[in-house]
Amino acid sequence: MPSEDNPVYTLAEGCPVGDPSASVILKGITPGSGGLSLLEDTQLLETLAHFPRERIPERVVHAKAAGAWGEFEVTHDISDVTSAAFLSEVGKKTKVLARLSTVAGEKGSSDTARDIRGFALKMFTEEGNWDFVGNDLPVFFIRDPVKFPSLNRSHKRHPQTDVPDSNMFWDFHNNNQEGVHCLMQLFGGRGVPASLRNVNGYGNHTFKFGKPGENTFKYCKIQFKPDAGVTTLTQEESVKLAGTEPDYHVKDMYNAIERGDYPTWTMYLQVMDPKDAESYRWNIFDITRIWPHKDYPLRPVGRLTLNRNPENHFQDIEQAAFSPSTLVPGIAASADIMLQARMFSYPDAARYRVGPNYQQLPCNRAQYVYSPYQRDGPMRMDGNYDGDPDYVGSSFKKMRLGPPDVAHDHWVGKVMSYSSEVTDEDFEQPRALWSLFKRNGEDENFAKNLAGHLCKAKPEVQAATVEMFNKVNNEVGEAIQKVLDEMNDKGTAGIEHDQRRPSKA
Ligand code: HEM
Repeated sequence: MPSEDNPVYTLAEGCPVGDPSASVILKGITPGSGGLSLLEDTQLLETLAHFPRERIPERVVHAKAAGAWGEFEVTHDISDVTSAAFLSEVGKKTKVLARLSTVAGEKGSSDTARDIRGFALKMFTEEGNWDFVGNDLPVFFIRDPVKFPSLNRSHKRHPQTDVPDSNMFWDFHNNNQEGVHCLMQLFGGRGVPASLRNVNGYGNHTFKFGKPGENTFKYCKIQFKPDAGVTTLTQEESVKLAGTEPDYHVKDMYNAIERGDYPTWTMYLQVMDPKDAESYRWNIFDITRIWPHKDYPLRPVGRLTLNRNPENHFQDIEQAAFSPSTLVPGIAASADIMLQARMFSYPDAARYRVGPNYQQLPCNRAQYVYSPYQRDGPMRMDGNYDGDPDYVGSSFKKMRLGPPDVAHDHWVGKVMSYSSEVTDEDFEQPRALWSLFKRNGEDENFAKNLAGHLCKAKPEVQAATVEMFNKVNNEVGEAIQKVLDEMNDKGTAGIEHDQRRPSKA
């Protein structure tokens, strides 16, 4: 609630009180005898007790972010692909909340780290919220969700030294080589954006777009492209800014919006007929692969504009909860096990981080909700459905029901262990990316960026990483090895914390 110009200062329960900067004390009557705090000093108790409760757990990944409000406007007719109401006609506008983040660093970490950027949107549509929870790179490091916690731990702090550790970073990737495509993207030119206003937003997963009730759908990949183009920083620029301006990206986006220089993106779809999926060159449920634009061109949908900074970051952005499970009729999940697992993980994280009624906070609240079988819980504030039946099948209040989901598939399968076995196919798209790096003259920088990180790992870890990149193409391994050798010769390889002791049995 914005405060009025000349408000009366009160306690949290509303009682107007005197000086907020002074405790009430029992003062000794002899000179120099000090004073005693009083339990009746509600202001002091409230002030001290609230302070250590100001923090909610930071997100276990994507903790550092900028956020803003905005709108999405449909610019192209895609009524042949989906019946989602917010996409139903050209010119239609929908309110949006956006949160753009780094992944590995904590809330106080530097914005210009070489890392993936998260690109999360919440669109407040008339059919409920639609969350787009994507990244700025088109592919991901793993394709089995059971590896997600390990992946992230290997990118974060070592359990003993409590500093990020090149050994475990590269050891994880050497032994989980399905991530090689994503590593090439990360250590290529796109690994450090110059501004969050100039990053792509990729959904990575394949989604099903369709019309509930009609038994058909299309497979779609979703992408947001910045209208001002993608801009990036070199390794040297990013390292310098990390020291001098650790909040560089957050400030940049905030200031741009304040001065009316609103960042905009165009949303695109790649649309595939489900029949093609069966014979397509790539497994379309594998998020370590892209669909090349020459096979599936980008089809424009609409424009996203961020035009309002949050009044209060904690309330609007820190408490915001995005999830790939927050879908609307006409957009549905596909049979990608990563996506399926994410649909559990995000609401689960939000219940822990914000609380079980997180959906009722203004930053998360959908336009219309009637969910009377979710009741009570901490911080309930929506009226709690008064005396409406709290059990299914009541004859006392009839409800109208929504449409069935987009074309449910019929599943006959067997329960088995998923294999994310790595084959040469995993190196094909990275190979094509290497050719592109060479064409664009980005190959040397890629090798420098990567070797600059890898050089701090133990020699055997370095050797295994070079071996992995040799599978992309010998040239890649050789380019990396050449920079490593130069760094070793010059003594610029840096030191990794290597004081770890094996744990006692
Ligand atoms: C944040 C889990 C893969 C994008 C998070 C959070 C969790 C999580 C637990 C913190 C949520 C919170 O505290 O509110 C997972 C799991 C994954 C996975 C289990 C794979 C199995 C991905 C992928 C993408 C992605 C593939 C992008 C395509 C994001 C973004 C956020 C996030 C953008 C930050 C959302 C925000 O701004 O609040 N993820 N994630 N994640 N993840 Fe993932």
